[in-house]
Amino acid sequence: MELHILEHRLRVASIAKESIQLFTYGLIKLAFLSSKTRCKFFSLTETPEDYTIIVDEEGFLELPSSEHLSVADATWLALNVVSGGGGFSGSQPIGVTKIAKSVIAPLADQNISVFMLSTYQTDFILVRERDLPFVMHTLAAEFTILRVVNGETVAADDLGITNGFVKPKLVQRPVIHPLSSPSNMFCVTSLDPDTLPTVATLLMDVMFYSNGVKDSVVGNEDSGHIRFFSFSLIEGYISLVMDVQTQQRFPNNLLFTSASGELWKMVRIGGQPLGFDECGIVAQISEPLAAADIPAYYISTFKFDHALVSIQTASLGQGRASWEAHRDEN
Ligand code: ARG
Repeated sequence: MELHILEHRLRVASIAKESIQLFTYGLIKLAFLSSKTRCKFFSLTETPEDYTIIVDEEGFLELPSSEHLSVADATWLALNVVSGGGGFSGSQPIGVTKIAKSVIAPLADQNISVFMLSTYQTDFILVRERDLPFVMHTLAAEFTILRVVNGETVAADDLGITNGFVKPKLVQRPVIHPLSSPSNMFCVTSLDPDTLPTVATLLMDVMFYSNGVKDSVVGNEDSGHIRFFSFSLIEGYISLVMDVQTQQRFPNNLLFTSASGELWKMVRIGGQPLGFDECGIVAQISEPLAAADIPAYYISTFKFDHALVSIQTASLGQGRASWEAHRDEN
């Protein structure tokens, strides 16, 4: 297995809901007119709290500096696990389940904080740039580590870390943050970039003007319903995570879903904002899911984390039992 360290230097930022109009000029350019920018990594996720933006340095320049934009005080690098011959293998478990044991747990054992972004195409594990030597040291045993430099994949230099490492103890990682599960179901989809113009107006509506629509489409009695929408355009690939109600607003056959067209249940992690320093949150959630073979995606936002759990598997005996046991402890 190969671990690629991508060259994008990423910023993680939050835009207050009520201030979104101050940023739409830049965000529309990043999402729909990317050829006019030098940005190669852009993601925008709307939650009830805020808009979370993950964007490379080039793209960050498109956003005005403003007191309404909070930026996490680190530069993040994206890691990406690539299996053997490259490309995406269909038979393997997808999402964080696949990388829970090999990447997420070892990093948590070494107290390295991560920030996750699962997309339709792959799962990005963001780590702080300053933690990179420790990340490489931790994962070197399990992976061939490659770095992308000017678009070329090259062997990563050995950073020669020899001390400062504690042997990981077999730590128990109980789920310590409160969990909640909204009532709506989600799908993880993609879109051919060539068809983006045909749905650009709809996407702008969904991304920036959805607040008024929500009640009429969904019915405001449904209190367990959550506003969650994620758009990413990374190295030319589009990924969209949306609930079924939003998906129904798109023309038929335009969005790709995985062959089974699965729906996913969301588990939100966090009562108080989770911050960026705490380690092991993703591990708490992804390890038991992986142990029970439950496919899951994982999306971190500025304040909270979100696991998307396959309902097909989650409703099967053991998987569900162990998941609910975890949940009920809280
Ligand atoms: N740093 C956490 C971990 O290593 C995950 C991110 C939580 N923080 C957040 N703002 N979403 O498990």
